[in-house]
Amino acid sequence: MKHWTLDQIAWDAFTPTKVDPGILSLVKAAALVEKNGVDYAIYLNNVFTGDPDFRQAADNWAVEEVQHGDALGRWAEIADPSWSFDDAFARYREGFKIDVKADASIRGSRTGELIARCMVETGTSSYYTALGESTEEPVLKQVCRLIAADEYRHFKLFYDHMKRYLAREKLSFPQRLRVAAGRIGESEDDELAFAYHCGNEPASQPYSHERCMRSYMGRSMSYYRFRHIERGMGMIFKSIGLEPRGRLSDLAAKGAWKLLQWRRSKYAQGSGAANENAPPRAAA
Ligand SMILES: [Fe+2]
Ligand SMILES: [Fe+2]
Repeated sequence: MKHWTLDQIAWDAFTPTKVDPGILSLVKAAALVEKNGVDYAIYLNNVFTGDPDFRQAADNWAVEEVQHGDALGRWAEIADPSWSFDDAFARYREGFKIDVKADASIRGSRTGELIARCMVETGTSSYYTALGESTEEPVLKQVCRLIAADEYRHFKLFYDHMKRYLAREKLSFPQRLRVAAGRIGESEDDELAFAYHCGNEPASQPYSHERCMRSYMGRSMSYYRFRHIERGMGMIFKSIGLEPRGRLSDLAAKGAWKLLQWRRSKYAQGSGAANENAPPRAAA
C-alpha cells in the first residue's frame, strides 16, 4: 500500500527561481535509479523463493520506489522542460542491467541480502532528508520529505525481516559487518554514476565512470550535514546489531563526517583514477 500518491503533491506551487541547478542534476540521476526498482523486486523475489510474505512486501516496496522515480522525474521535467524522463530512462535501462535471475543472494545469505537492503535504505533516507533540507524549491521539498519518510519505512521493513532470518541463519557479527561495509562501498559503482550520465549528459558523449562519479559525488556530498551522518550511522549500527546511540556510534559518525569532508575536497579537486570509459557494472 502506497502512503501517498503523485496527486497529493502541490505541483502548482513550483517556483522556477528557487531551482538549484546542482540539485536538479542530482534529481535527474536519482529519478532513473528509483524508477529501476522493479528489477530489484524481481531479483528479491528470486532470492526469497518460498517466503510469500517477504515476496509480497518486496513487490509493494518496488511500487513505492518506482513512484519515487516518477515524482522526481516529473519535478525534473517541470524544472527543465527540455529534459525527457522517458528518454533518459530508456538510455539508462539500455546500458545498466542487474542480474535479476539470481537464485541465491549475491550477499551469501538472506540475512546478508537484507542487511545490504538496510544499507541502501539508510543511504536513501539520509540523502533525501539532506536534499529536502537544502532545496528552497517548495515542490521538491515536499517530494523529498515524502520520499525520505518512505525510505525510513523501507529500512524498518528490511530490518524486521532481517531479524527474522538472523534468528535462523545466525550470521556472526564479522559476517554482518562485512556485508554492510561491502554494500556501502558499492555506492561508488556504476548505478549512480551511469544514472548521472544518462540524466545529464548527451547521448553523444561517451560514458566515463570517473567523470560522472566526480560530478555526482562532488555535488551530493555538499548537501549533507553532520546530523544526517549521525542519524545514518545509528541506522547502520542497528542493522549490524550494535547499539545505535552510544560512544561507539558517536565516534563512527565523527569519523564518517571527517571522511566525507575529505572525499568532498578530493572530488572538488577532481583527482583522477582508473576506470575512465569502463562499461557500467551493477551493484544489486
Ligand atoms: Fe526510493
Ligand atoms: Fe527505499
